[in-house]
Amino acid sequence: MIIEPRMRGFICLTAHPEGCAQNVKNQIAYVKSKGKVDGAKKVLVVGASTGFGLASRITSAFGCDAATIGVFFEKEPAAGKTATPGWYNSAAFENEATQAGIYAKSINGDAFSNEIKQQTIDLIKKDLGQVDLVIYSLASPVRMHPTTGVLHRSVLKPIGSTFTNKTVDFHTGNVSQVSIEPAHQDDIDNTVVVMGGEDWSIWMKALNDAGVLANDAMTIAYSYIGPEVTEAVYRKGTIGRAKDHLESTAFEITKQLESINCKAYVSVNKALVTQASSAIPVIPLYISLLYKIMKAKGLHEGCIEQIQRLFEKRIYNGNDIPLDDKGRIRIDDWEMQEDVQEKVAELWKIAETENLSEIGDLAGYKNDFLNLFGFGFEGVDYDADTNEMVMVKSIN
Ligand code: NAI
Ligand code: NA
Repeated sequence: MIIEPRMRGFICLTAHPEGCAQNVKNQIAYVKSKGKVDGAKKVLVVGASTGFGLASRITSAFGCDAATIGVFFEKEPAAGKTATPGWYNSAAFENEATQAGIYAKSINGDAFSNEIKQQTIDLIKKDLGQVDLVIYSLASPVRMHPTTGVLHRSVLKPIGSTFTNKTVDFHTGNVSQVSIEPAHQDDIDNTVVVMGGEDWSIWMKALNDAGVLANDAMTIAYSYIGPEVTEAVYRKGTIGRAKDHLESTAFEITKQLESINCKAYVSVNKALVTQASSAIPVIPLYISLLYKIMKAKGLHEGCIEQIQRLFEKRIYNGNDIPLDDKGRIRIDDWEMQEDVQEKVAELWKIAETENLSEIGDLAGYKNDFLNLFGFGFEGVDYDADTNEMVMVKSIN
């Protein structure tokens, strides 16, 4: 069938298999262009199909020649109905890895569940024995708790008082004021349950109890800090509480896994257009201003540039891993540079519907958003008939 983007709110209901494959190929080409990184050889990526997790899988495989197992939660295609982009990304990734002689298998299901953890452990035992790096890159609005069966929902709200600021509908470019009511304690607790560190630590304990974590293994989860303008809704809001929890969980995991000298880190990454971040109010306006400035300064990075630099310059730099005063890895250093942030703050004050396409990179935002679903790539014939029934080989 001919597949076109069908937008609804913050998501696109369709995905293009060949476009997703092109996205994966472009990321692989980038990683290869940067040369080899002497890093992990057997890698588990939880949340491996899109965004930072996909970039982590690609960097592991094509930068470090690592075997990878990817866990994700994506919808497979049905006749006349496309899969979610992460499905097509993973299908393409497996094809490319296999062609390059690199082991790659995938597990599709709820990573928060005991079943999927067990399935992953069984696969590691059968094929790899142990893993030496675990990337934890889940972004989910809900989590079914594995022991209580309660379905927790995360929310994106400020804490304490109503937050009013500018936001943009990136489809139309319309800048408006948004007011978000403060969270109740329940909202905070639920968001911490979904996006905090509990599941990460359950994963690491399960892997270690099963004996599938190598000595000196490492695990990394991703966090975000960001600027003052988004603070109320991000770092000091409900999601920020979850990130605080995630960050403190790193120290607990390191303590828990002392006997095998496994170290857990959080890497603070740059704000980027992903399915997760597009749904957060205020953030898309910030990102469109940020992109404009970072591109002008030659500092712009996407997920793959971020993660390739994280691997090469931070975690596998042949030396100690540089950490900030809170023990975190920082790869958001270029975003947080003073001259960049000063300029964003300046533009933030004047941003409005009429000038955003000029002072912000709205076009770049839109293009990145389309790219998430496999649209807008050069070299893909979007008018051609396409087979939507592309499968992830290790799954079907
Ligand atoms: P994303 O939406 O692109 O990726 C989420 C991944 O999690 C996908 O592979 C998806 O299949 C998987 N997933 C979701 N629910 C699942 C479940 N129940 N079971 C198994 N897999 C599941 O998100 P993104 O943006 O790459 O986020 C990853 C991490 O990076 C998050 O912790 C996020 O907070 C963090 N981060 C994101 C930034 C951004 O600007 N996008 C900035 C800094 C950190
Ligand atoms: Na991800």
